[in-house]
Amino acid sequence: MDPKAVKSDLVLILDYGSQYTHLITRRIRSLNIFSLCISGTSSLETITSHNPKVVILSGGPHSVHTVDSPTFPSGFVEWAQKGGIFVLGVCYGLQLIVQRLGGQVDVGQKQEYGRMEIEVEKNLGVFGNKKVGDKQVVWMSHGDEAVKLPYGFEVVARSQQGAVAAVQNSEMRFFGLQYHPEVTHSPEGMDTLRYFLFDVCGVSPGWNMENVLDEEIKAINDTVGPEEHVICALSGGVDSTVAATIVHKAIGDRLHCIFVDNGLLRYKERERVTETFESDLHLSVTCVDASNEFLSKLKGVVDPEMKRKIIGKEFISIFDAFAHKLEQKLGKKPAYLVQGTLYPDVIESCPPPGSGRTHSRTIKSHHNVGGLPKDMKLKLIEPLKLLFKDEVRQLGRILNVPDAFLKRHPFPGPGLAVRVLGDVTEGNALDILRQVDEIFIQSIKDAGLYDLIWQAFAVFLPVRSVGVQGDQRTHSHVVALRAVTSQDGMTADWYYFEHKFLDDVARKICNSVRGVNRVVQDITSKPPSTIEWE
Ligand code: XMP
Repeated sequence: MDPKAVKSDLVLILDYGSQYTHLITRRIRSLNIFSLCISGTSSLETITSHNPKVVILSGGPHSVHTVDSPTFPSGFVEWAQKGGIFVLGVCYGLQLIVQRLGGQVDVGQKQEYGRMEIEVEKNLGVFGNKKVGDKQVVWMSHGDEAVKLPYGFEVVARSQQGAVAAVQNSEMRFFGLQYHPEVTHSPEGMDTLRYFLFDVCGVSPGWNMENVLDEEIKAINDTVGPEEHVICALSGGVDSTVAATIVHKAIGDRLHCIFVDNGLLRYKERERVTETFESDLHLSVTCVDASNEFLSKLKGVVDPEMKRKIIGKEFISIFDAFAHKLEQKLGKKPAYLVQGTLYPDVIESCPPPGSGRTHSRTIKSHHNVGGLPKDMKLKLIEPLKLLFKDEVRQLGRILNVPDAFLKRHPFPGPGLAVRVLGDVTEGNALDILRQVDEIFIQSIKDAGLYDLIWQAFAVFLPVRSVGVQGDQRTHSHVVALRAVTSQDGMTADWYYFEHKFLDDVARKICNSVRGVNRVVQDITSKPPSTIEWE
């Protein structure tokens, strides 16, 4: 989709590396305003090409005093003045404005971190809807401090300790907040953002998933010629399913999907997802049972990276064969490939200082199975490229993707191969794991906990321990249960189940899964662990 086609003014975020930058983007979108995030050191040409109504300079871990601290390009202020653009600096962004426009930022005497009370001094700018003397709690996180404002700027709020908390120059349309309005620890922060964007800047909204869907369908139809065909590999996950459904809505049966059973799927996964694809979404899906191919190549392989590589390679060769068969059937090569890439995967972030990295696309490459055969020469269609996960779910709802499907926990591309430690083909490890996982997940659903947990699964350990079942001593397998809470999978905490729940699940597993006599729970967070075991 062409961002310019969106029926909403754009709020462009220049990212200076704050951990909250993406959150600002999402919060603004939740106000039905289109927002994009680009690197804080983007060129003036890049910034202007987006044609924003408002630019927000984000926070960041830098000090304006450091040599090479990131900043906006020269000509930015003049462009904003000429074009009637509104600019809001948040935290480091405020300090940048102050310093670049001729004020003074000092290394703070009174460094302020965490919850603080601020008081409105003037009912102007972002606080134009407040009364002088109004107080509110906000989330501060800064070391440096603006001590002298540039010409024409005034303080509109201060912290309890007297530090500058908000500034403005309404004539220039430049504003600054020393705290983070986007986090929930600033309870009135969203009100402030809303007031600023709608009342101060006069932004006109229009970002909603119905519009996005219409634009997306139009864009796909404009791109894919009337005789051209498109292919898509479905994983059974939310992203590829929603992406395929959108493309299907646009071009109908010229979309050809493939779902590969690699023998590493969960219990009845193939039946469950194909039922949804066919009955609910009316997608034409070719199911390829390639379990023998995958499992024979994985025989004896214990190294996790090796497993991933083998799976990725095998997947490509099956995909390749599918594309060739299709070419024979259609008499022409499919021209496009659909991918469910999301916005967080394409955002250019400002890397932390000292990391030695320049701005780069942060792509979780090891999470994507394989690549594409080089000679395939397919052009990409990425209909979710501008969307966050929660927006993809909203789109899915509009497209009638069943809710239970949209709320599914993430599942790794290499499947159960990263949940069976060691050789996946040894004994009946995969079978045992499927049964244990099913009991665990079903129990979580029955207890009403599924939506509270980011991801839950079982792990097969290649060790045996002694047990006693019935009148017999056994020497059977150990399985581990893993459940975590997380925002985005980058960090995670283990989920605290009630003892009674764990007790019931462990009993059920040992009583019904042959070959298991011991159940343990993984109680490590990420870091130091990862979520998956391999
Ligand atoms: P880790 O285990 O690295 O994973 O903490 C974070 C999230 O990503 C998923 N994950 C994967 N997804 N292919 C995928 O499609 C992979 O190879 C892969 N490894 C991890 C994991 O399930 C969790 O949600």
